[in-house]
Amino acid sequence: MRRPRRNRSSQAIRDLAQETRLTANDFIFPIFLLEGKNQKSEVESMPGIYRLSEDLILKEIEECLNLGIKGFDIFPVVEESYKDKYASKSFDSDFFYLKSLKKIKETFPEALIITDVAMDPYSSDGHDGIVEDGKILNDETLEVLGKMSLAQAETGIDMIGPSDMMDFRVGYLRNVLDENGFHETGIMSYTAKYASAFYGPFRDALNSAPKFGDKKTYQMNPANSDEALLEAQLDFQEGADVLMVKPALAYLDIIKKLKENFNIPIAAYNVSGEYSMIKAAGEKGWLDPTATMMESLLSMKRSGADMILTYFAKEAAKLI
Ligand code: PBG
Repeated sequence: MRRPRRNRSSQAIRDLAQETRLTANDFIFPIFLLEGKNQKSEVESMPGIYRLSEDLILKEIEECLNLGIKGFDIFPVVEESYKDKYASKSFDSDFFYLKSLKKIKETFPEALIITDVAMDPYSSDGHDGIVEDGKILNDETLEVLGKMSLAQAETGIDMIGPSDMMDFRVGYLRNVLDENGFHETGIMSYTAKYASAFYGPFRDALNSAPKFGDKKTYQMNPANSDEALLEAQLDFQEGADVLMVKPALAYLDIIKKLKENFNIPIAAYNVSGEYSMIKAAGEKGWLDPTATMMESLLSMKRSGADMILTYFAKEAAKLI
């Protein structure tokens, strides 16, 4: 008689029969960068996650590297007074984000440093593109994204992360990078990025929520899955090095679909709201935050994610 329970009967056989394993090498740690020195403030809706100034981020990255985490995605916290309609600060080489990227990369050449390419942190409209008459302009936005990407590549970072969802941006940015000699700078494309309510705490962290409307004319409809394949085909053809699905937990089917259809690495972004839910329920004593964290991360890897962007990176790496 076939009895599946035999392979679950002891820790030894469970370990031997285990199909999926997490390692610290799977994780990319998203970090919120503040201007200044010795600055640290906790994101209220993300207990245990801090906005940090450059000096403190250098310590944080060192700690992570010692835990085996090698990838870092750096997001700038931009003061309201720096924001404008065209996100001009995003390509001003004197701006603190670009200076800090250079310092971080110089200090840790062995780490993989990823940047965020989108207008929203720098935009007075809080949108990922240029806004005119309430509309998000696609092709005009590409020019801004091109300047932003080039300024970031010049700091020496390894990979840009376009998170804006404009059409043709991967091809456009690949061209800009190549024409300027940055053929080694990679592109992790936010390929299937859904218009999700799970980004709430991240927008608190950066104070980057849209000033009007929502992001549904550029981010994807959560009801769609064929459309994720279309986005992936385009990003693949346009030269993306990594395809990302975001959020992760409510979109495991999309991760699996991309993994089955493309032979380049797939990333999953375990977003802010997914982090906050577990932390909040854990604080209330309603579920075990450590076990649910590990189970969630494991499910992303089992679905096909080759790498996972997660605010849990440090906590999980310590347990592995
Ligand atoms: C914006 C951006 C967002 C996130 C990463 N880049 C939010 C948004 O699209 O509004 C969300 C990340 C998270 O929730 O952890 N370009």
